[in-house]
Amino acid sequence: MPRKKVTVVGSGNVGATAAQRIADKELADVVLIDILEGIPQGKGLDLLEAGPIEGYDSRVIGTNNYVDTKGSDLCVITAGLPRKPGMSRDDLLMKNASIVKEVTENLVKYSPDTILIVVTNPLDAMCHVAHKSSGFPKQRVIGMAGVLDSARFRTFIAMELEVSVESTHAFVLGGHGDTMVPLPRYSTVAGIPITELMSAEQLARLIQRTRDGGAEIVGYLKTGSAYYAPSAAIVEMVEAILLDKKKILPCAALLQGEYGVNGLFVGVPVKLGSRGIEKVIEIQLTAPEKAEFQKSVDAVRALVGVLGY
Ligand SMILES: NC(=O)c1ccc[n+]([C@@H]2O[C@H](COP(=O)([O-])OP(=O)(O)OC[C@H]3O[C@@H](n4cnc5c(N)ncnc54)[C@H](O)[C@@H]3O)[C@@H](O)[C@H]2O)c1
Repeated sequence: MPRKKVTVVGSGNVGATAAQRIADKELADVVLIDILEGIPQGKGLDLLEAGPIEGYDSRVIGTNNYVDTKGSDLCVITAGLPRKPGMSRDDLLMKNASIVKEVTENLVKYSPDTILIVVTNPLDAMCHVAHKSSGFPKQRVIGMAGVLDSARFRTFIAMELEVSVESTHAFVLGGHGDTMVPLPRYSTVAGIPITELMSAEQLARLIQRTRDGGAEIVGYLKTGSAYYAPSAAIVEMVEAILLDKKKILPCAALLQGEYGVNGLFVGVPVKLGSRGIEKVIEIQLTAPEKAEFQKSVDAVRALVGVLGY
């Protein structure tokens, strides 16, 4: 069976690290594409030359030409601009929307059957852009955010309780970042809800740190944002799809009635397999959880409204 092919758009921090993780796991051949000339080519060749040492045969190439992305099974969109001084959130929204639109149209031209994983921020709004510009069914446009947010929550739970991260499970819903909705009732250590393992004060502290997880890293790095955990989150999704694992992961999905939401990409648990989003998993929410979820939905709707969608 020929190896699968994954295109990663954007050869910056997140894109290049995702390419490295895909090759390390030998999940697919990787095409790294960017508008910058030389950067994807250089990083692609560098990654290829790590193969003999790391023991992977994945072919990695860097390019500026979408012809090289032809026939990709999966495409990850990390292309975008970071926020610059003097730039409003809405300015960034419009700029990245035009990048994601152009990238999506190019990808679809050469890989009409591909699955899109959107990473560029503001995440939930960019999922709308990719969905609209691709014309793809909702199953094939998926946003990465919840896997990262829940990994951060799991890290903090493990640190607080001094247990292995592997014994932790965390559940988050809603939009990416500030408005995410962690669900402690469904977050567990070895199956035990964390509400039974820590005080309300401890829990509130961990939830706040998780919400501020991206900003905490930016605060340290000053220039640029997190990429090791984001790329790991991307690759968990890539693996679930390419290996048809049917993993239940929190992802941004287009809701059409689920959770009482219509026509909006919001983070919810989904089943990821070879067809992309194979099912949206609906769970019962308590009244306070519903209220928080609604706040998150309203925030996403406001951003998407700015796009004129
Ligand atoms: N969803 C999440 O949880 C999450 C997590 C981390 C980062 N992000 C987002 O991912 C994006 C990338 O982050 P990064 O740290 O890698 O940034 P980066 O600046 O290191 O890389 C972005 C790359 O995109 C490229 N690019 C810009 N316009 C392009 C175009 N039209 N076509 C192809 N490539 C283009 C740039 O040249 C650059 O190499 C950002 O929008 C960031 O906010 C999202």
